[in-house]
Amino acid sequence: MSVKIVKNLSAWFGKTARDLPWRADPHPYRVWLSEIMLQQTRVTAMLPYFERFLLAFPEVEDLANAPEERVLKLWAGLGYYSRARNLHRGAKAICERLKAGDGFPETASEWREIPGVGPYTAGAVSSIVYRKREPIVDGNIVRVLSRVHAIRKLDSGNRLIWDLSRRLVEERSADPRILNQALMELGALVCLPRNPKCGVCPIRGSCKGKSEPHAFPEKKPKKEWKHLSERKWIPLRRKKSVAEVWLIRNEGTGWREGLWDFPSPGARGVAGAVMRSEFRIQYVVTRHKVERHHFLFFVGSRTKLEDQNGRWFSILDLPAVPAPVRKAIAMVEKDLKTDQGQR
Ligand code: ADE
Repeated sequence: MSVKIVKNLSAWFGKTARDLPWRADPHPYRVWLSEIMLQQTRVTAMLPYFERFLLAFPEVEDLANAPEERVLKLWAGLGYYSRARNLHRGAKAICERLKAGDGFPETASEWREIPGVGPYTAGAVSSIVYRKREPIVDGNIVRVLSRVHAIRKLDSGNRLIWDLSRRLVEERSADPRILNQALMELGALVCLPRNPKCGVCPIRGSCKGKSEPHAFPEKKPKKEWKHLSERKWIPLRRKKSVAEVWLIRNEGTGWREGLWDFPSPGARGVAGAVMRSEFRIQYVVTRHKVERHHFLFFVGSRTKLEDQNGRWFSILDLPAVPAPVRKAIAMVEKDLKTDQGQR
């Protein structure tokens, strides 16, 4: 069965693979960068970030030598910011190897020594770049292989799925570079979670789950949402007709370390300012549904806002801000435009 799956999947990939920017010339820096960006993120969402990163940091040394603030700023909006910090640490670790004359990591175990690289990423990069016979398992591949083999119950650590993935890549006729990317591509384009396109699947002949794809694997209990609400001030001033907002750098060690955000109510100095409008934004992050309630204030140019981590930023040149802050600033811009229209 493996021989047939490898043959059909590889032929299909040869004909229909998307032309992704790291595929024609799979250089280790670009493939590693793409795989870190693709953790928890879809190809279409990450592509513009990938292009911007490569423009800013054409080589791994450029990334390693950049200030963390710049890396975070270019990452801002992609979410899961620990990936950006690990990417930066990973670039430094790779550069240490390069300086020592060891070259890029090649095997999966060498890749595992780079910060931010887990078993999936190590398998993906070593197989795509160096054609190492290493298996890969991520959410997409769990779905594909559990359907092909009609597996309802997953074991802990998905050991069974890892074994099945390994069996495929160890098939003599398999080119690991093609096979692993074909598995990813099948999960992304055909073997979809809700509407699998079994009619056009290149391996439907080998699939034991095709008559009831939704049954495999068995669904986990739905995650419980936690509801959070936050209140944020947006201090705003105009400087030479450019709007500026006051932001504070998160110095904690939590999940938004190093990113900039609006102050929370109680910040000194805003009390005397004039409230202009208020609006709410909802967003979802991991298990949290968060509602942010914003209060937009015009601040006189002489008002002093005091917070040693705070600064004014032109809304045209923002630092590293998470997606909900970007969204709120877009709403502020809209609000200011309606004002101009009325004049
Ligand atoms: N998802 C994760 N890695 C991928 C890759 N290299 N190609 C397509 N989808 C992916």
